[in-house]
Amino acid sequence: MLRKKFTHYFIALFGALFLLSAQAEQAAVKLGNVTILATGGTIAGSGATSTTTVGYTAATVGVQQLIAAVPELAKVANVKGEQVFQIASESMTNEHWLTLGKRVNALLAQNDVDGIVITHGTDTMEETAYFLNLVVKSKKPVVLVGAMRPSTALSADGPINLYNAVLLAASQEAVGKGVMVAMADQIHSARDVSKTNTSTPDAFKTSELGMIGYIQGNKPFFYRVSTRKHTTETEFDIANLQSLPQVDIVYGYANMNTVALDAFVANGAKGIIHAGTGDGSVAAKVKPGLVAARKKGTLIVRASRVGQGILARNGEANDDELDFVVSDTLNAQKARILLMLALTKTNDSKAIQRMFYTY
Ligand code: DGL
Repeated sequence: MLRKKFTHYFIALFGALFLLSAQAEQAAVKLGNVTILATGGTIAGSGATSTTTVGYTAATVGVQQLIAAVPELAKVANVKGEQVFQIASESMTNEHWLTLGKRVNALLAQNDVDGIVITHGTDTMEETAYFLNLVVKSKKPVVLVGAMRPSTALSADGPINLYNAVLLAASQEAVGKGVMVAMADQIHSARDVSKTNTSTPDAFKTSELGMIGYIQGNKPFFYRVSTRKHTTETEFDIANLQSLPQVDIVYGYANMNTVALDAFVANGAKGIIHAGTGDGSVAAKVKPGLVAARKKGTLIVRASRVGQGILARNGEANDDELDFVVSDTLNAQKARILLMLALTKTNDSKAIQRMFYTY
């Protein structure tokens, strides 16, 4: 009987010691150092009541408040915060992008920074993410995150989105994946993600090319990666750039005219993205305006307003003859970003077409 009791005590003692050592081991696991760069947006927004999910004020809450609102961040990373801007993202400019891109590269060059999270408005998040995908010179994770509801709303999505983004940026699995967008437990590549709904929490989708993973149970799970070049494979360098070439977008629609196109060209646009109907079709009334702009040296990229699919070269226009470039699968707003960076390297349309098939 005594022997049996002793055995039970020994098993219990051994179990307790094992548990303590496992917990101590977990505590000893080194947490990654993640810097949160805050730029504004709804994730930093506030509304009049807890049921205000539209018509609130974006960009009112500072980065330290965002971090303080999610104490769980300390369980997944050593977090520091910087307030880079405090704007609603519809007001993002090329100058903001250059400032942000240079700050990201400076931080990632530091040995004590393992990853970066950028809190951002959702309106232009896909654009900032793609810009950074083309200019960040590191394999370390860079994750953009936002919210579709302000911090004051019932079921605000900002806190859990921020927690997931920091956890992702601190993970080894995210290294080398390019710039990512983490929203609603999903991981998207910067190149292919779009905001597809004006207001619902699941607004971010990579409709046909597919998101790259999920975040579940405090872990990222990856299932695919983009085949296009990004970050350390980029040929673009913003270190010495103070501005980006002017590129504007004309939107295609029935009964379109060339008033906007002519105004953009007269204003000195170095490139025009034509977001045409269907497979980038050009209305008969508009084609002469594009041809004239090209003859003046303005780069013309045929994109589509549709949102999915490959823009076929020499499909709806004789691009070889007209010396136009096609956008591949990039939407118009992302084609504008690639063309701006391409024009910092060359005006050669064939070299630029290669870039659209590379990034
Ligand atoms: N003004 C919009 C922006 O900052 C709010 C949308 C959001 O952040 O979700 O992008």
